[in-house]
Amino acid sequence: MPHNVLIMGPPGSGKGTQAARIAERQGLAHISTGDMLRAAIAAGNELGEKVAAILKRGDLVPDDLMLELVMHRLEQSDTANGFLLDGFPRTVTQAEALLESLEGDRALEGLLHMVVPEDELVRRALSRGRNDDTEETIRHRLKVYHDKTKPVLEFLVGKVPVHVIDGVGEMDEITARIVSALES
Ligand code: AP5
Ligand code: MG
Repeated sequence: MPHNVLIMGPPGSGKGTQAARIAERQGLAHISTGDMLRAAIAAGNELGEKVAAILKRGDLVPDDLMLELVMHRLEQSDTANGFLLDGFPRTVTQAEALLESLEGDRALEGLLHMVVPEDELVRRALSRGRNDDTEETIRHRLKVYHDKTKPVLEFLVGKVPVHVIDGVGEMDEITARIVSALES
């Protein structure tokens, strides 16, 4: 099984749900940039103050802030056994910087691309009700995903093995699809 993996997909595609399961099973560090930013907001620290309004709108946090946060996180010892990045990279600039920083046994070994139809994404987010889960913000997050993050997938094709995962169905079933894709 690959050890250094990215999970990508639109908001509500199940990245967080599936990343937690796979990371636990494989002993990988689950690095969710959304969770890290929400923790900073809850803590009321300097980063949290800078990003709160950005998350509420569904816009992207500037690349320099994200790169500082993630590069620092990847230096922590729990990533030695491998990591599962959830929510990063989201721009081509972030992807370029990430690839440049990971070499040798740290290099990326796989990318999981979660595919879920848009009406299902909106339905899931509205039933969860996070602070940025209003219909207007979800639509905006989807647009940002298409404009800024889809190009990341195109950029990474050919550089990292890509596994397209059908993200519709029972959660256990989707976990099994991911495990079998990573083992193949
Ligand atoms: P982030 O937290 O990454 O949010 P997101 O990408 O919008 O995605 P979600 O977390 O909403 O969805 P998910 O794919 O994890 O799905 P989940 O498992 O939760 O980012 C939030 C914000 O932070 C961004 O908008 C941006 O402002 C900022 N940010 C983060 N990273 C950044 C970066 N790199 N650069 C710049 N800014 C950044 O599932 C969703 C719901 O569906 C849950 O309720 C779940 O229970 C349910 N569900 C899951 N699987 C299924 C299933 N199979 N069937 C039915 N329901 C399901
Ligand atoms: Mg998430």
